[in-house]
Amino acid sequence: MSGHGTPTPMTSHRAEPLKGTAEVPGDKSISHRSLILGAMAIGETKISGLLEGDDVLDTAKAMQAFGAEVTNHGGGNWSVHGVGVGGFAEPDQVIDCGNSGTGVRLIMGCMATSPISVTFTGDASLNGRPMARVTDPLALFGTKAVGRKGGRLPMTIVGAAEPTPVRYVVPVPSAQVKSAVLLAGLNAPGKTVVIEKEATRDHSERMLAGFGAEITVEDTDEGRVITLTGQPELKPQVIAVPRDPSSAAFPVCAALITPGSDVLVPGIGLNPTRAGLFYTLQDMGADLTFENPREEGGEPVADLRAKFSPNMQGIEVPPERAASMIDEYPVLSVVASFATGKTMMAGVKELRVKESDRIDAMARGLRANGVTVDEGEDWWSVEGLGPDGVPGGGTCESFLDHRIAMSFMVMGMGAQNPVTVDDGNPITTSFPIFEPLMTGLGAKLSKG
Ligand code: S3P
Repeated sequence: MSGHGTPTPMTSHRAEPLKGTAEVPGDKSISHRSLILGAMAIGETKISGLLEGDDVLDTAKAMQAFGAEVTNHGGGNWSVHGVGVGGFAEPDQVIDCGNSGTGVRLIMGCMATSPISVTFTGDASLNGRPMARVTDPLALFGTKAVGRKGGRLPMTIVGAAEPTPVRYVVPVPSAQVKSAVLLAGLNAPGKTVVIEKEATRDHSERMLAGFGAEITVEDTDEGRVITLTGQPELKPQVIAVPRDPSSAAFPVCAALITPGSDVLVPGIGLNPTRAGLFYTLQDMGADLTFENPREEGGEPVADLRAKFSPNMQGIEVPPERAASMIDEYPVLSVVASFATGKTMMAGVKELRVKESDRIDAMARGLRANGVTVDEGEDWWSVEGLGPDGVPGGGTCESFLDHRIAMSFMVMGMGAQNPVTVDDGNPITTSFPIFEPLMTGLGAKLSKG
């Protein structure tokens, strides 16, 4: 839904040692895709562990509007009775994707090759984000898009009645763009080919194969070449959504910077296209271990154990790792503030077009809390102040961005003085149980 109600400030006070087990919710990327692919299969897909954050709930509503039957059975168990590839009905109403770039871009892709017209909108953050990166490749299928200046929402997409398959080299490292093109390719006859120069999260490829689509992935000199044969009959699946590494990042990082902490974060998806943060933290000297590695639902999974780590050093984060940790730079910059020496994060231009300009949002908030930050268009650096060196005491804007809000709440747990965000409401988009989960470990959060 658009908007998050009246802004509610949230403050994080120096925490007790964080102890215990943090059962974080299901993976956001996989949750969106489970609902969308479930809606495009014929028959009933059963999903357990679905993330019930606002972003995913908006996608569930959208799939209902397209004619799929989506049922919440409670406790994270959902089912989707799909209408099949090419079976979407035209929604009666505008599709409101709330805060979710993944939701809107994937849904645009999945309807782009059906003969229906759909108008999309979102909250102030989403309505400011660029959509041309998706509507440009969709135009190659014959899809039309009319939006506001700069390719912004609200926007109407007119699906191609007679789509032709496409070959598209994705110009920016974006799993959303790649996925939108693949989903559009589902209802185009023949082979759609997507090429990415940098590997991004591959949940769409894995799940399309799981649903029975003919899809191949080849590493070539040109990049990763993904070839999808259109117009398959997708078979319903039973999906156990792994817990989200991007949500696990918050209790893990909080434990690393809060004296005396020892936290177990079980069952975390460690798909290599998602796990970059954890390797970066280990490179910095974090006491972070992977226990009980296993495979669940086609994804590598492990239990993470994070302990207070007073000896972390600033590092240069390898730019080629950026795509595998793109959502984790905000909270990494908080950890970097508690390390010794400078942390350099380069090759991260994409951070400027997320739910907020995340370099700008974090730089402002870190400075308000006594941390020195330097930045350029596609890089930023943070001067670490050591394990007990972050003054805190600042108030930061969250810019309708859940990860900015949660990152500053983590900062307050280890800082000398409380850290406040002007609005904690956006947290429900991806991590609705953040507050009880963190306070259950020993965090001290207050609202209002
Ligand atoms: C996502 C892809 C990434 C990521 C987002 C989720 C996905 O966005 O930031 O939170 O599920 O495909 P980009 O495609 O813009 O990199």
